[in-house]
Amino acid sequence: MKDIYEIAVVHGDGIGPEVCAATIEVVKAALGPDSPLRFCEYPAGAEHFLKTGQSFPEPTFQACRAADAILHGAGGLPGVVHPDGTEAGLDFTLKLRFELDLYANIRPIRLFEGVESPLRGVKAGDIDYIILRENSEGLYAARGSGALLRGEVAVDTLVQTRTGIERIVRKAFELARQSTGAPRDGVRRVTCCDKANVLRSYAFFRSVFDEVAKDYPDVATEYALVDAMAMHLVLKPGHFNVIVSENMFGDILSDLAAATVGGMGMAPSAEIGDANGFFQAAHGSAPDIAGKGIANPYGTILSAASMLDWLGHKHADAKLNQAAERIRSVTEACLAGGLLSADLKGSASTRQITHSVCDRLAAAA
Ligand code: IPM
Ligand code: MN
Repeated sequence: MKDIYEIAVVHGDGIGPEVCAATIEVVKAALGPDSPLRFCEYPAGAEHFLKTGQSFPEPTFQACRAADAILHGAGGLPGVVHPDGTEAGLDFTLKLRFELDLYANIRPIRLFEGVESPLRGVKAGDIDYIILRENSEGLYAARGSGALLRGEVAVDTLVQTRTGIERIVRKAFELARQSTGAPRDGVRRVTCCDKANVLRSYAFFRSVFDEVAKDYPDVATEYALVDAMAMHLVLKPGHFNVIVSENMFGDILSDLAAATVGGMGMAPSAEIGDANGFFQAAHGSAPDIAGKGIANPYGTILSAASMLDWLGHKHADAKLNQAAERIRSVTEACLAGGLLSADLKGSASTRQITHSVCDRLAAAA
């Protein structure tokens, strides 16, 4: 247990500052006046790049590395790009992932009471699984190092290592063990999502998956090719418990999955390595609605609950886990009570949601 936990905060771009500020208020309300968390803000992102020519200043990186946890709003603005065409506002997220080796990107997909799914006939609780996205290699490992020859040939290489696959697959089995299984049948199950029928790198992923699976005979296993997976997530989402996949596939499936539970605003995420933890919603910076006060803060709030859980477990500090639990149950109650932002077909503003969540947390304290 620590007396003080330093949280490095980067607000980022678009709606980033709005959802980040909302979340900090919520965390403060959950922990009360004796909160051991200290939030320190640092600059990074597309806006900062436009102002200074730097998307991710070195002091911000050092502060993030040294902090107990990192909280981010969202990054990136369309058109703010490097000479190679890639977005400058994404440097923060991507550099943290690779430099701090945040290999496990944990993305819970859950349909809450009060939130409407575009899928017919599903109700709260019917969708409740985790996409475990490998976050440190795969196709994204080529970022910044792919070849561009004569303005004519472009190459990015997909990288899969035994160590990288082993640790993410092991994490998938651990998460399945801790869970209550798939909603439809209660079976603890890890689905290996790949494209092993076409590419060697994915066949390798699957073979390492098989090796690791032997250590978890109590957890059911199956394979799903990623193209079929896109269909399964729509047609039988209740079947899934934990899905493990390569970086790029995990990115794509995350958005599809989020759509089934209310959209990107309802997609929290936790990016974890052996030493550091980075917490942000899976959504982007939504510049089209930035500054209007209507952004959905639930994804970031739920990501912060994961941050408290991670810190609480890491430092054996139960009060952080209790605060995480309070945030989750209050969030659930607010959604069930109809406190919905515009993306959820409601009319509550970011402020209204934040105030209601905080009021309920104060009442629960
Ligand atoms: C995500 C985002 C990121 C990604 C961006 C912001 C770099 O889409 O976390 O899913 O592509 O991984
Ligand atoms: Mn994404």
